[in-house]
Amino acid sequence: MSHRSGGGLRVSRGEYKAIAERMRAIQDQQMRIVRNMRRIRYKIAVISTKGGVGKSFVTTSLAAALALKGKKVGVFDADVHGPSVHKMLGLPTGLGLQAKPDGTMIPAVAPPGIKVASIGLLLPQDEIPLIWRGAIKTRAIRELLAYVDWGDLDYLLIDLPPGTGDEALTIAQIIPRLTGFIVVTIPSEVAKSVVKKSVSFAKRLEAPVIGVVENMSYYRCSDGSIHYIFGRGAAEEIAEQYGIPFLGRVPLDPRIREANDSGKIFFLEYPDSEASKAFIEIAEKVMEIVENVGPKPPKWGPQIEEE
Ligand SMILES: Nc1ncnc2c1ncn2[C@@H]1O[C@H](COP(=O)(O)OP(=O)(O)O)[C@@H](O)[C@H]1O
Ligand SMILES: [Mg+2]
Repeated sequence: MSHRSGGGLRVSRGEYKAIAERMRAIQDQQMRIVRNMRRIRYKIAVISTKGGVGKSFVTTSLAAALALKGKKVGVFDADVHGPSVHKMLGLPTGLGLQAKPDGTMIPAVAPPGIKVASIGLLLPQDEIPLIWRGAIKTRAIRELLAYVDWGDLDYLLIDLPPGTGDEALTIAQIIPRLTGFIVVTIPSEVAKSVVKKSVSFAKRLEAPVIGVVENMSYYRCSDGSIHYIFGRGAAEEIAEQYGIPFLGRVPLDPRIREANDSGKIFFLEYPDSEASKAFIEIAEKVMEIVENVGPKPPKWGPQIEEE
């Protein structure tokens, strides 16, 4: 045991060796992460302070839209509490990740050619709850990032756990040189707090915000009339206030939930739907911002509360 004597901290020889070994292992892992991430041109983390706003749906649909645009795309599910990215991309829980002789893992592949890595693929079944403490979760994420060999990618989309607390922060910090964040919200009052907190989060990480996507924006009835179920317009307004690009609106569509629940990729099943068309436009905006304009840190106009 370590103990203090005379005000100094004493560490036994054995302890010193163990600490040194652990530090070497972490260093080795971080080097692997840096090496892997260097081969990926744009690394985008998708965040929201609220769960259930469609973050994973937006992540996977945007991935599919970018892939259809001819980009090499990967999706990393960092939401270890409720990994859902693999299911939304039609991959079953427990599918596994193929290991190579050198110990690295090959991501699973979902149509249209999206590489996927997720804790969900490594769990034996859906029902096993992940009651992990923060440190273990972070370690699992770190190991996946170190040992999954993505190869060369144009885009890696990272589905962060909901919230902007320590867990999301730690995970976002593991990834070197993030291109920026995409914020997902639903309209109305919720949008204000989601965008505000996300901007504050980006500020702490000194990473740009690429833009805001408003999901569940409206519902179009079969007679063509539009209903603003969750309110109207707030997300665009608040994005403008912060000087963040507004990337687009995705309507409510019951077929989205049906597709997501039955392991079908909505974007590919219903390419002519309003929601899928919205994702094509969102993908074009994202490409323009990250590839041509260069994502910018938000303007710090209004007061931002730190969490
Ligand atoms: N635009 C939409 N219209 C209808 N259902 C949606 C829409 N976006 C997401 N959903 C559904 O809402 C639920 C939550 O979405 P999800 O992407 O899992 O949210 P989050 O990742 O933010 O927790 C899922 O059942 C999903 O299928
Ligand atoms: Mg999710």
